[in-house]
Amino acid sequence: MHHLSRRQVVLGGLGLAATATLAACAGASNGSGMPSRSFGTPAPITPRAGQRLVETRLTARPVTLDLGGPTVPTWAYGDTAPGPLVRATAGDFLRLTLDNQLPADTTIHWHGIRLRNAADGVPGLTQDPVKPGGKFVYEFTAPDPGTYFFHPHVGVQLDRGLYAPMVIDDPHEPGAYDTEWVIVLDDWVDGTGRTPDEVLNKLIADGGTASSGGMGGMDMGGMGGMDHGSMDGMGMGSPPWGDAGDVAYPYFLINGKVATAPDTLKGKPGQRVRLRVINAASDTVFTVALGGHRLTITHTDGHAVQPTQVGAFYIGMGERYDAVLTLQDGVFPLVASPFGKTSGGQAMALVRTGSGSAPGPDVTPAELSGQVLIGSQLQPADSAKLAAKEPDATAHLDLQGSMKPYRWGINGAPFGENDPLTVKAGQRLRINATNMTMMTHPLHLHGHTFALPSGLRKDTVLMAPMQSLTLDLDADNAGDWLIHCHNIYHGEAGMMIALNYV
Ligand code: C2O
Ligand code: CU
Repeated sequence: MHHLSRRQVVLGGLGLAATATLAACAGASNGSGMPSRSFGTPAPITPRAGQRLVETRLTARPVTLDLGGPTVPTWAYGDTAPGPLVRATAGDFLRLTLDNQLPADTTIHWHGIRLRNAADGVPGLTQDPVKPGGKFVYEFTAPDPGTYFFHPHVGVQLDRGLYAPMVIDDPHEPGAYDTEWVIVLDDWVDGTGRTPDEVLNKLIADGGTASSGGMGGMDMGGMGGMDHGSMDGMGMGSPPWGDAGDVAYPYFLINGKVATAPDTLKGKPGQRVRLRVINAASDTVFTVALGGHRLTITHTDGHAVQPTQVGAFYIGMGERYDAVLTLQDGVFPLVASPFGKTSGGQAMALVRTGSGSAPGPDVTPAELSGQVLIGSQLQPADSAKLAAKEPDATAHLDLQGSMKPYRWGINGAPFGENDPLTVKAGQRLRINATNMTMMTHPLHLHGHTFALPSGLRKDTVLMAPMQSLTLDLDADNAGDWLIHCHNIYHGEAGMMIALNYV
């Protein structure tokens, strides 16, 4: 009862109704805030006449992976992390069967796809969790071309090896390139003496109990970054992202390999290559560059942008960037440098088009010291622009929280206690989002894309400390959706909110 009265006081101070239940202050255990609803088995659906069917089975199971030296017990889709590429063409009907051979409940979320709600993979919101030994059939049309990925939406399972790329091809793609490389970035801890669940429990334990601050942390956003200077492997915050992560990882990976045993991408000088770069990390923003090359960014989160030449770009957790480049002659490092982290080295792959000795795992391409693109500053291609329109409805979305206690939330409370955002089908909704903390958060929206004021379409956007952004979206895909921080530890600790409409 003590907790309840404290909570009422704090929420009252935030001007919110104090209707939440007591479970709240117990913290971040999986699903603590999930409404208890039962969904049963979704009714099967079938392709329309003439619609192509793409079928795959994905088996989530315990596995031992060789990261290129370090060998780790983990969970993955099949035998590798990243798991198998799922590829289809825009408009195809996908039937993807999850076979859960894990000793835990799981689901799959198809990150960035504007799919039907029943296939979105959020337990408690769109489906029942898939039990060990159980199966679930995800059926949906993939309407938009682009670079996507998929992962569980249960606990911190994404920080194991449970992630894989998904490419939806554009039937009208001019294909002004000779070859394509999918580049999946990750931060790795699982099986190195800690599991992601242990990492989360330690963050919560190190943050102390609710009695050292309780819900007060929610309106003390400035606390978010203050403890990191003393943590192993954590640099002090620096521009533009301040503190960007909570976890010191022993390894950073490109396509499942450490920099000392890099994945090698082979091509010929003069070839045009399309890169599809996916940040599947749980707690790491990367700066990406290819030594000796300029990159022309063509898409972000699946949507076309005005082609922009850069030496390097930032990529937040859950974001995707497509770039084209012309291969030079030699051996070059493709580096993903973890922002603000001082241990664990960097992620690196090699690009080889000729002879020459390979650069070492610590190489710093000159491009990393030049100007680095912040993706939200890209301009949309005319074809991808969200048409300008006055919003029919507005909502506010405040990102809040702290490291001590380790507690993250949106609009005054963690997920399950905060009030869902709502809109009416057909409306243009404007979300006035503000990051009230000293950390960077990649804000992700399910089932839709939002547009920045420039008209740039994204489904995941990095919000710097204290930054505000207006995000416009068309409510054209009714259902119960999540908006959340794609730092998986923040999300699991409560930094999520629902967007519901019929
Ligand atoms: Cu990759 Cu809820 O998202
Ligand atoms: Cu966050």
